Amino acid sequence: MAESLKGLKRTMRCGEVTEEYIGKKVTLMGWVAKCRNKGGIVFVDLRDRSGIIQIVTESEGADPRWGSLKTESAIAVTGTVEKRGGAVNPNLRTGTIEVIPESLRILSTAQTPPFLIQDGIDTREDLRLKYRYLDLRRPELQRKIMFRSRTVQLIRDFLSAEGFLDIETPSLIGSTPEGARDYLVPSRVHPGNFYALPQSPQLLKQLLMCSGFDRYYQIARCFRDEDLRADRQPEFTQVDMELSFVDQDDVIDVNTRLLQYLTKKMPDIMDELGFDEKLTCGIRKCAEEIGKNGIGRITWQDAMDLYGSDKPDLRFGMQIVDVSENVKDCGFGVFTGALEAGGVVRGINAKGLGDMPRKRIDKLTETAKTYGAKGLPYIAIHSDGSVKCSFAKFMTEEQTQKLIEAMNGENGDLLLFAADSFRVVCASLGALRLELGEELGLIDHNEFRFVWVVDFPLLEWSDEENRFMAMHHPFTMPYEEDWERIDSDPGSVRAQAYDIVLNGTELGGGSVRIHMDDVQEKMLEVLGFTPERANEQFGFLLTAFKYGVPPHAGLAYGLDRMIMLFSGSDSIRDVIAFPKVKDASDLMMGAPSTVDEKQLKELSLAITKEEDETAVQS
Ligand code: AMO
Ligand code: AMP
Repeated sequence: MAESLKGLKRTMRCGEVTEEYIGKKVTLMGWVAKCRNKGGIVFVDLRDRSGIIQIVTESEGADPRWGSLKTESAIAVTGTVEKRGGAVNPNLRTGTIEVIPESLRILSTAQTPPFLIQDGIDTREDLRLKYRYLDLRRPELQRKIMFRSRTVQLIRDFLSAEGFLDIETPSLIGSTPEGARDYLVPSRVHPGNFYALPQSPQLLKQLLMCSGFDRYYQIARCFRDEDLRADRQPEFTQVDMELSFVDQDDVIDVNTRLLQYLTKKMPDIMDELGFDEKLTCGIRKCAEEIGKNGIGRITWQDAMDLYGSDKPDLRFGMQIVDVSENVKDCGFGVFTGALEAGGVVRGINAKGLGDMPRKRIDKLTETAKTYGAKGLPYIAIHSDGSVKCSFAKFMTEEQTQKLIEAMNGENGDLLLFAADSFRVVCASLGALRLELGEELGLIDHNEFRFVWVVDFPLLEWSDEENRFMAMHHPFTMPYEEDWERIDSDPGSVRAQAYDIVLNGTELGGGSVRIHMDDVQEKMLEVLGFTPERANEQFGFLLTAFKYGVPPHAGLAYGLDRMIMLFSGSDSIRDVIAFPKVKDASDLMMGAPSTVDEKQLKELSLAITKEEDETAVQS
């Protein structure tokens, strides 16, 4: 039978009881984490979000219900704090004390939960997500969700002190141009018409700049119907901001200071919440580094050339080396063929892996192939000095030796090459670099290395669409000095766009926006918009810009990714209270689900089945 709280007030949380309370009476409420009956004396671990405290009944005269408490039941206890009778528990903040109860109220009795509510369980994730409310009771998830809340508060404090206004924007809007598929919401009032959920508040925040708000931010929910990965969810949260009368350096400056503020303040919060000391130590070091040297910048071109990625992981070296010049006259058709086709030949030196078995090299070849490479030419310099070159038959001794020198190859090194288009070479060597960096133990998982990636190309060629696409979005400002090449060599025009990268993850991105009519019109033309279509899709923005638009720029962080990285998590699902799984479904609520005929009718929708494909007809 469940009892009420009538006449009872909680005095504090379990983890807040300290030795100072010894001899005092407290009333605590929480969940039964553990209940052990040791010959009449019952030991109960009472848990709430602040931690665990031990309750010990005295053998004589204790409420008999203590002995048969079901774990995970919600109870209220009034009792006296005492120094522990038994051994001190160094793993608990309350490890030196215990509570001797006077009264017990069972507020709600729990059924046996489907899995243990404990850290480090290896229960299947789908079961945990089905009972997410139980999963969330586990201390490690409690810690992460509380850390997220505290971090958001830090962000609000900083941005508010910097003069940013928190302004909400709607969720039922028209399509926005972030490049993913939209989630659509059918309109009942306008049959056959749909709202789109925002992929980001991009256009709305630009309009807020037109309205004169000057500095805007929002902890904004964004929706993108795209394939999910460990760092992607269909709905996720951005720390979104926009500033007026600023240039790229101003945005980078305020955000560098924001990141310094966060890394400085986070460790104390994390200590309080009980995070691993190694992690907080790493974040402290990162704050010191930003304080001393700021956050470095690397151009997109250098990031691609040296690390094969626009989100380089700078925690280790193993930079990519261009050997195109060294091999242009060799006899290996794979190399010369790639160069003749306008591609490049590049390599990485995996120091210390020269004796890698053939089987493992074959595995690396498979990795390279998933990134578009057709093979993986290599030179293994064994530790005894002998050399195994997979394309030896096409090379003279001298050519091979020169190539080894160009790669700074020494005994015990494994040199891996890629010869293909710039894109394929970057993608495959970039991926191999990460895989080998991990294998060689070059990555310190408690290190935090930020970098600003700047000077992105404005446009990106799409083979699929057979046209240029905006690399960031269509409102990104080109560099003035590059703009004259927009017709003759559009691919070479750089954008005033920047990403903030942390440990090889894109944490955020932004750009200076176009505020000139003529540049915007030309940009839309290059992207293949007819004036009519441009007008249809963002006419309101183009019109707004005719009424006095300030030069403006902005940025958005992926909040989930930020919390994931700083809390040392592998997946953003761990830092989202109710995440979705790979196929975008919510296992707890059973969404998405079918709806009533009546609801469909109201929305003027009918479901048709065509060759096993479900289509929605309006
Ligand atoms: P962008 O599309 O780069 O820029 O998004 C900004 C940041 O949001 C995060 N992010 C995601 N996080 C989780 N799941 C996803 N599916 C997902 N998609 C993106 C990333 C990314 O860096 N309006 C522009 C910003 C601007 O120009 O101001 C925008 O949305 O961390
Ligand atoms: P082979 O001549 O097939 O023995 O290949 C010699 C080396 O070149 C091997 O390491 C292959 O992985 C690599 N290789 C072969 N063909 C290609 C190709 N088209 N592109 C890149 N590497 C290749």
